[in-house]
Amino acid sequence: MSDNGSNPMRPYVGRLAGTKELATEIRLFQIELQEPAGKAAFANYRPGQFAFVSAFGSGEAPFGITSIPGRGDLLEFAVQRHPHGKTTNGLHRLDVGDPVGVRGPLGNWFAMDEIQGKDILVLGGGIGGAPLRPVISTILDNRDEYGKTTILWAARTPSLLIFTDEYDAWRAAPRTELHLTVDQRPPDWREGNEGLITTLLENVGPSPENTITITCGPPIMIHFVTLSLRKLGFTLDQMLVTLEGRMHCGIGKCGRCNLGDIFVCADGPVFYHSQVAKLLESFL
Ligand code: FES
Repeated sequence: MSDNGSNPMRPYVGRLAGTKELATEIRLFQIELQEPAGKAAFANYRPGQFAFVSAFGSGEAPFGITSIPGRGDLLEFAVQRHPHGKTTNGLHRLDVGDPVGVRGPLGNWFAMDEIQGKDILVLGGGIGGAPLRPVISTILDNRDEYGKTTILWAARTPSLLIFTDEYDAWRAAPRTELHLTVDQRPPDWREGNEGLITTLLENVGPSPENTITITCGPPIMIHFVTLSLRKLGFTLDQMLVTLEGRMHCGIGKCGRCNLGDIFVCADGPVFYHSQVAKLLESFL
């Protein structure tokens, strides 16, 4: 958790070092932290953690960290521009070189060492897949430590699929499969399937034996993915999920993100489904 001096709400100042278009209205922001305290705070962030990113004058919003720990010094976040989102519009208006604020790293993370030796099923939907990129990269960088890895990756249309330039590397890794699906497949798109991620999941039909599932996406997707996983024989103890909360402070103070007595920002955002199954209904 950030302890930025005496004020954990103050962002560290950084510079927008680069951007890249990931998909329609979804841009990757590469941020170079400039303050020594900020660099120190983010020296050891982990897959699954998040941070608040601010465009000064437009506000801040939470984003899962999508850069890969240990690979370079730039922090990366995938930001989807929302038509009425003051912060996302403010971020999308920034030019390379502009100042930007980052507050974090916040929350817990995927305990990647605890799931070594397991087969891994990764399910990402739309922009929700962004925090799963460091999970996938950690597996591929340490390929012998993990079993068969199956990635199910979904979006509404092909133009909304993120990290498309990494798919070849994912597919080429040993014992690794990538299955894509979109809600509406244009006639000339042959890279994947048409339909919901739950249909794809049931068609691929992964075995629950010695398998951990990792799901990130909107609550409604997590709900229906869970139903399909249950049909396939998975238990809630095999399902890791990362939740999107209605966050304001990110540090367990404001109560905005609570699910019952759980603070999504501080106790999560990563949970075993069995920890939050009843509480998740309030998200739907
Ligand atoms: S966002 Fe304020 S308590 Fe979680």
